[in-house]
Amino acid sequence: MSQPVYPVPANWAADALIDEAKYQALYRRSVDDPDGFWREEAKRLDWIKPFTKVKETSFHEADFGIRWFGDGSLNLSANCLDRHLGTRGDQVAILWEPDSPDGPARRITYRELHEQVCRFANLLRSRGVGKGDRVTIYLPMVPEAAVAMLACARIGAIHSIVFAGFSPEALAGRIQDCDSRVVLTADEGLRGGKAIPLMANVDAALAHAPGVETVIVLAHTGANVVMRDGRDVDWAEGVEGQSPDCAPEEMGAEDPLFILYTSGSTGKPKGVLHTTGGYSVWASMTHEYVFDYRPGQIFWCAADVGWVTGHTYVVYGPLLNGGTTVMFEGVPNYPDPSRFWQIVDKFQVEIFYGAPTALRALMREGDEWVARTSRKSLRLLGSVGEPINPEAWEWYYRVVGEARCPIVDTWWQTETGGATMTPLPGATALKPGAASWPMFGVRPLLLDAEGQILEGAAEGSLVIADSWPGQMRTVWGDHERFFQTYFTTYKGYYFTGDGCRRDEDGYYWITGRIDDVINVSGHRMGTAEIESALVAHSKVAEAAVVGMPHAIKGQGIYAYVTTNAEVEPDEALRAELVKWVRTEIGPIATPDVIQFTPALPKTRSGKIMRRILRKIAENDTGNLGDTSTLADPGVVDHLLANRPQVE
Ligand code: WTA
Repeated sequence: MSQPVYPVPANWAADALIDEAKYQALYRRSVDDPDGFWREEAKRLDWIKPFTKVKETSFHEADFGIRWFGDGSLNLSANCLDRHLGTRGDQVAILWEPDSPDGPARRITYRELHEQVCRFANLLRSRGVGKGDRVTIYLPMVPEAAVAMLACARIGAIHSIVFAGFSPEALAGRIQDCDSRVVLTADEGLRGGKAIPLMANVDAALAHAPGVETVIVLAHTGANVVMRDGRDVDWAEGVEGQSPDCAPEEMGAEDPLFILYTSGSTGKPKGVLHTTGGYSVWASMTHEYVFDYRPGQIFWCAADVGWVTGHTYVVYGPLLNGGTTVMFEGVPNYPDPSRFWQIVDKFQVEIFYGAPTALRALMREGDEWVARTSRKSLRLLGSVGEPINPEAWEWYYRVVGEARCPIVDTWWQTETGGATMTPLPGATALKPGAASWPMFGVRPLLLDAEGQILEGAAEGSLVIADSWPGQMRTVWGDHERFFQTYFTTYKGYYFTGDGCRRDEDGYYWITGRIDDVINVSGHRMGTAEIESALVAHSKVAEAAVVGMPHAIKGQGIYAYVTTNAEVEPDEALRAELVKWVRTEIGPIATPDVIQFTPALPKTRSGKIMRRILRKIAENDTGNLGDTSTLADPGVVDHLLANRPQVE
């Protein structure tokens, strides 16, 4: 398949913060002289005590450790708020759009946000919360979630956000793992017109997490909730009477900032720990360079604060950079599939950053939902969270961005803190689907199965050879697990868990998690590649491909396919798709099984649960493992009931 390349538009090359020559020069410096490079970049923050040491890191067992700016001190909340008050106190910091388009939006200035954060921080202090204490946040996408994060950072408490779609069991596990004594929640959340009983979930969770002493409850929908004396505090009542001033705590650069639980390939979710100095420098720098961000531009990252993308690009990155950040409570297709683009018009959003999963869902509904909005304010688009197939990329580029806006496809992980490989809009000619180039300070390597370094155009396991400031520092409460998970597969390297290809031009292409790579007749293939081919078919909305045992080929290809709304899947379509994939990629990619399904099993954050698809494909359906994070468990029952006979 010939690969389209979109050169950097002339106006971007001329006006962007970073053009190609500058990228090359800065990248060189960042790896040749990391201390010098990061000493400069760290100037973007106000430090209380300047650091003298910059990089003290080793990925080797004998002297393993990751410290950045280790003897400096600062406060992240003061960096996000206080230092902007003189210049942009009246600028809107947060633009909030409620679930329903009928509800009033909210505009919160830096001055107002500062005051709310201080009052809430004082409330936390009055409940005995101090430096190093853990606070679990279980809130919907409302400005108070950002207030809570910034208040924790202000007093040095470690926040642990649990996505408001998680069940009481999942919440309880996360509260207990980090021993939170305080939980912040709301009466209810709202998504797509449906109420989510957050307070009731907290009550249920606390039956299993008896250590919690304080629950602060935001009255969001006004639903009736039972408040327990001594334990529960009404948010508004609690902050009333608190002082609007709150001295920020002096935090060491390596003092913990937040814990965020994330699923690994084994065991229970890991509490990924990020610390204050390195994460802040990384969040600010990547937000500025990746999005070519200038203070005051309207920036919308459509992620939930329950995920790392929401931490870094809804809250910390934009606020560190004096930005105006959009927070949206709802979902892309409620009340109709125009919702995203209506919000873009309403707030005159300049930069939109979203997930391929949402784009594919909207693409399936047809172009007219996009076309009826203006989107003239948009200048840049971003993608994150999973490989974006070229068809979705092209749709995003042509239909949403009207071939006017570059797309930055940012590859990163909860563990990496912020964008780790990505194109830069003024520097990188775009190849649809490529994560392109490493961010400053990131040294990606591709290794073969024996751990040998692959040079030039190649495909292998993606590892990172050296530390960068935004890297996670440990797994909460289990430093050994941190080392084992990430630094022992390939000794001396950080193992990402992703497969990756580097092309002749040095572009990196993420092929998906390593365990998604399949080997058919000795040919290594990214399942993403086959999915992408399937999705490129006009009748296909979404596809997921996994390996299945095959007596002759080693592994065969099992494809789950969701067709577009108006298409009735039948045998003729099955044959058509097999033929299609053979012509798109080649006979080695011929699907052995195609199972049509009205939906794919996804987590509440929209990630396809491939583990389950693999089990079904392998006909190992006795034990599907943990299905508690599924958004809709009924999807799995349907898949099991309709699994085709495979000989
Ligand atoms: C995948 C989300 C391809 C990848 C920020 C990674 C991507 C995992 C991309 C981390 C991308 C994320 N292209 N794959 N642009 N972004 N991934 O921790 O497999 O929720 O390892 O962090 O998502 O997911 P996480």
